[in-house]
Amino acid sequence: MGSQTEIKVLDGPAALAETAAGVIVDAAVAAIAARGRFTLVLSGGATPRETYERLAGPPFCDRIDWQRTLVFFGDERRVPPDHRDSNYGMARAALLSKVPIPPASVFRIRGDTEDPEAAATEYARAIAGALGLRRGELPRFDLVLLGLGVDGHAASLFPGSPVLKEVFRTVAAVHATAAAVPQRFTLTLPVLNAAAEVIFLVSGPEKAKVVKAAFSDQSTLPAAMVRPANGRLCWLLDRDAAALLKTAAEP
Ligand code: 6PG
Repeated sequence: MGSQTEIKVLDGPAALAETAAGVIVDAAVAAIAARGRFTLVLSGGATPRETYERLAGPPFCDRIDWQRTLVFFGDERRVPPDHRDSNYGMARAALLSKVPIPPASVFRIRGDTEDPEAAATEYARAIAGALGLRRGELPRFDLVLLGLGVDGHAASLFPGSPVLKEVFRTVAAVHATAAAVPQRFTLTLPVLNAAAEVIFLVSGPEKAKVVKAAFSDQSTLPAAMVRPANGRLCWLLDRDAAALLKTAAEP
């Protein structure tokens, strides 16, 4: 990990969610003050649900100007939006259906597609269109939320995947044999590493080993390859997830 990496260890999942919601609000306020809009990339999995639920309620919800917020997804499973494994479905239930965000400001990946390659290309175009990017220009999202899989994956970038070497495409359709839903879509490393801010949310004792591995000097885990070139990287861990990190034991 680079020297710019910040690590915050919180007492448990509730404190993690509370802190994460505060970080998201702060990023929104700063981005809207500076550029008139906030571009947020949500992560999937179970960990962020509590953060999304907090963000949907007071005091967090009212501090974000939802009319000036654009929401994207870092990855998606190839399932319909109302499927229990849909990342969009989870975010909609926990957050997006509860806040005054215009539906046109939520950009979901079409997990219900017949043609994954086309859906990945379509999402890349949707990002470029929404952000007004020139041809070949990478998006610079204000805040990207990520989780950590027990195998070290982040978004749907899995260990050993050829997509880890992607340099041109911003969105890829991938196949992750080990995952419960193997067919997925993911933002690629160049996009994650072009973000202004990336926050990992990691909770639970089952993540302690992989957190330690991600922080080892020679780590080649996908999560360790997320290092924004010109942005902030912060890991929010709960005490259980941080248990094997030396920093967690030190005062
Ligand atoms: C997904 C993800 C994925 C997730 C990790 C951690 O769609 O599966 O976005 O990268 O963040 O697998 O998931 P948990 O929070 O469920 O442990």
